[in-house]
Amino acid sequence: MKLEDHPTVKRHGNMGAGSDRNSVATPGLDSTWLRRLALETLHGAHVCGTFKRNPAAKGGASTRIAGNVFFQVANTRAPVPSGFTLLDAADRAGVFIDNACRSGTCGSCRVKLAAGTVRMPVEDALSAEDKADGYILACQAEPSGDVVVDA
Ligand code: FES
Repeated sequence: MKLEDHPTVKRHGNMGAGSDRNSVATPGLDSTWLRRLALETLHGAHVCGTFKRNPAAKGGASTRIAGNVFFQVANTRAPVPSGFTLLDAADRAGVFIDNACRSGTCGSCRVKLAAGTVRMPVEDALSAEDKADGYILACQAEPSGDVVVDA
């Protein structure tokens, strides 16, 4: 088994301080696949980050709607239940927003907030300039009322 065998692995080559290293962005990796990978590559595999959340698992969450999101590029409007992120709402509505970590650290889901306000518990992947320019992380952004997103 190779990293490239997994259908959603993106492999990145990094140059570390004095050594060659590789890392992978792992959208959709599950624990079974990670265990197999670790057993076969114990000599140098480094796995970090969080497991991808399953938005469907939030099916039993509150039915209160925190707001509605309008995805401008997709021309799609969707409700966002309390406790859901804009990425969760996009997934449910069939609107594609690139993502990987779903934990606020990779920046793959960075989108511009055109209107409204959101709360983001983690925004590590945003620079001060990103924030000043109105970018948010869809995987972290929970709306406070109706919002418009450039996605
Ligand atoms: S998916 Fe990585 S920061 Fe949102």
